[in-house]
Amino acid sequence: MEMEKLVSLCKRRGFMFQSSEIYGGINGFWDYGPLGVELKRNIKDAWWHDMITAHDELDVRPGAPSTYEMTGLDCTIIMHPQVWKVSGHQDLFSDMMVDCKESKGRYRYDQLRGRWVEAKGQKVFVTTKVEAEEEDEDLQRRALKFFNLRAKNVEELSWDGDTVSLETISEFENVLAPEAKSVGSLTEPREFNLMFKTIVGAMGTEADTAFLRPETAQGIFVNFKNVVDSTRVKIPFGIAQVGKSFRNEITPRNFTFRSREFEQMEIEFFCHPDSSRKWYEYWRDRRMQWYKDLGLAGERLQLRDHAPDELSHYSTGTADIEYAFPFLPEGEYGELEGIAHRGDFDLRSHMEGKLDPNTCPLEVEKGEDGKPKYRGSGKDLTYRDPETNEKYLPHVIEPSAGADRATLAFLCEAYQEDEQPDDKGKMQTRVVMKLHPRIAPVKAAVFPLVKKEGMPEIAKDVYRALKAKFPAVYDEKGAVGRRYRRQDEAGTPYCITIDGDTLTDKTVTIRDRDSLEQWRVKLDDVVEEIAGRVS
Ligand code: GAP
Repeated sequence: MEMEKLVSLCKRRGFMFQSSEIYGGINGFWDYGPLGVELKRNIKDAWWHDMITAHDELDVRPGAPSTYEMTGLDCTIIMHPQVWKVSGHQDLFSDMMVDCKESKGRYRYDQLRGRWVEAKGQKVFVTTKVEAEEEDEDLQRRALKFFNLRAKNVEELSWDGDTVSLETISEFENVLAPEAKSVGSLTEPREFNLMFKTIVGAMGTEADTAFLRPETAQGIFVNFKNVVDSTRVKIPFGIAQVGKSFRNEITPRNFTFRSREFEQMEIEFFCHPDSSRKWYEYWRDRRMQWYKDLGLAGERLQLRDHAPDELSHYSTGTADIEYAFPFLPEGEYGELEGIAHRGDFDLRSHMEGKLDPNTCPLEVEKGEDGKPKYRGSGKDLTYRDPETNEKYLPHVIEPSAGADRATLAFLCEAYQEDEQPDDKGKMQTRVVMKLHPRIAPVKAAVFPLVKKEGMPEIAKDVYRALKAKFPAVYDEKGAVGRRYRRQDEAGTPYCITIDGDTLTDKTVTIRDRDSLEQWRVKLDDVVEEIAGRVS
């Protein structure tokens, strides 16, 4: 499927629009239209239902090490600025970027795709991935070399090779090739923090600076104690949150894949350190299965364990659930969700304000008062097991998904074209969005075959009965074949037609969007029949 076709369908049928489009749009921001808002809401609702409200804490789920509880939160987007200091976002959540002086193109490298190495007694960041605002392979190559040579102004590097994988070494050796030294006219690399700044209160001074959250996770960590104290949850348990996050991405691109405002669906799962590895594996598999159950079942979906040199400094295990989006080169996958074993990094940081100097790429600096710069809350965030009385800092498994990326993947997977006869029997290309009925924006459409003989009245009654339960549409305009096509493009799984037979035998035709199979059911059974198929 070509991406342009999907983008054009999304605009034409009201799945997605560029934000502020009548003013020329704003890069990295997208609006969901009438169909899109239902689709995304259904995805978020399915996630919340399957992970939280429908979770049975009395039974051991298949593959789970034990029973567990799930609960939710809804935290603010603006939080105390110290949260971002302690989490590391204020100092570490930045991209390095350079501009091309000629084309004005921007290049960023992804910190998590590289690692810090010792070279000539200095710490140097070596990256293997550079992304550009525009597709220019030669410039991208030069930018990659440039970053690796110019970061920390090191002209030449030596390498002991002990700590990196072979793949990284060979990438790195390429960088050392003599021609790498001439890099063309790129500006000096500069650090660019991805958090959006804002001002809280009327004074508007630098001291009033706050940030829009770049992830929902921190709201969960700082409320860990509140949840434990206010509910009867016992470890192991998970806290979930769905909400907006903001990142001032240097290169927003690929439709909604990398936006500057997006929604996350995150779970922080708190468990005993001894069983954390098993829980990590459980969540990795459970989250993968969730996407499969909702229709991403094909080979375009994959679960990929991170290589050791790809792991964040706090993580002892991370896997990504990835999808081969059509805008990516053949064989490349884009991240839908990361499942990370975060150890006790987050709770410990918020408690003690200490980053691990052995694994964190930044030194822990001392403030003027001699205390660590990343001062924590000082609150005791340890957990006391009510049965064994053991006191410990829980480990955290974090399945962190993007609602917009999931929506985009479901849209990409759903788009299909086939050849079907039109009303006159002529073969025509049909565009059909084969969305899983659970997430389809509209569940059923009701058509009177003709606008006479009482058919519209019966059809409207059926429509109203359906509408009381779930989104449905009524359409009496045009040939019935054209009405089917309109619903196929919207992803509506079932169309119900009231025809001449309805008047005599009180049955209607139901047509399945994917198989095109048609069958008759009694008027009185229509709602139940559709309800059973879409939930
Ligand atoms: N708390 C961990 C965390 O935020 P992340 O990998 O940075 O981890 C998690 O983000 C998910 O959020 C990603 O897998 C992706 O689905 C989504 N996401 C991140 N940045 C995004 C962006 N700029 N646009 C759209 N979705 C994004």
